[in-house]
Amino acid sequence: MWLLAADTTVVDRRIRMLLAHVSDLHLGRDRRTDDAARRLAAALHEGRVATALVTGDVTHRGRLDELARFEEIFRPLLDAGRLIVVPGNHDRLGDDVAGRLMSGARVDVASRPGLHAVRLDSTGPHNRSLVDSHGLLTEDDLAEAVAALDRAPAGALRVLLLHHHLHPLPEDLLAERLATLLGWPSAGELPLGAALLERLRGRCDLVLHGHRHAPSQLVLDRDGPRPLRVLNAGSTTELGRMRLLGARAGAVVLDRWVAIDGAAAAALDRRLRADRAAA
Ligand SMILES: [Fe+2]
Ligand SMILES: [Fe+2]
Repeated sequence: MWLLAADTTVVDRRIRMLLAHVSDLHLGRDRRTDDAARRLAAALHEGRVATALVTGDVTHRGRLDELARFEEIFRPLLDAGRLIVVPGNHDRLGDDVAGRLMSGARVDVASRPGLHAVRLDSTGPHNRSLVDSHGLLTEDDLAEAVAALDRAPAGALRVLLLHHHLHPLPEDLLAERLATLLGWPSAGELPLGAALLERLRGRCDLVLHGHRHAPSQLVLDRDGPRPLRVLNAGSTTELGRMRLLGARAGAVVLDRWVAIDGAAAAALDRRLRADRAAA
């Protein structure tokens, strides 16, 4: 069931671009996870989501066969350029498939009409070990991400995608709590995260991340001319829901959680189209 409020019609008329934020798919973990990924692909397709933004841990053990399953399930969306992906620490395990999810530089730009998405690979070589799950953000990464955001065309929604979190968040697991108590870095936020957040204020609309499997959000400058939403999708395949973001003229005008259900997605698409036609 899509979670739509009674006032949705009024909001939907302003939407020109429908995005989905999904994360931590962990393909290959078990049958239930892979089935959820298939439902997700159907929902993205049936709901005519323009672009899905995938913030890492696509695979569970970083194996090539898990990556192949991801590519098989999402093939039509990948071929149509409707997925923008960054790797997570789990993608560095096993066969290390992170480079296949994002090759080349640690920071690059994926542009779509009305969307300026800066991808930042926040993984590091230490992520080859499961217990060293924390991210990597260098001063160079930070400077390049800021410069890439500043190249956004006028009127585009400015989004930064990365896997790891920029600000402190509660630990998901007992092992993470123990790590923090022992002073280990594995469960902490990116050490330069606060510095990056400060640089993003006024020049970025959305920071999308995952890593923590429980969703969260932080909104900075809520009443200012350019609010900065820092959103954690959590694990989409565990939660069975994803975050839909509707945008127009570089601003977010809809922010809703919806269940991953293909038939319901098609119903929402019909409703959105009817609303636009009536506007
Ligand atoms: Fe994860
Ligand atoms: Fe992760």
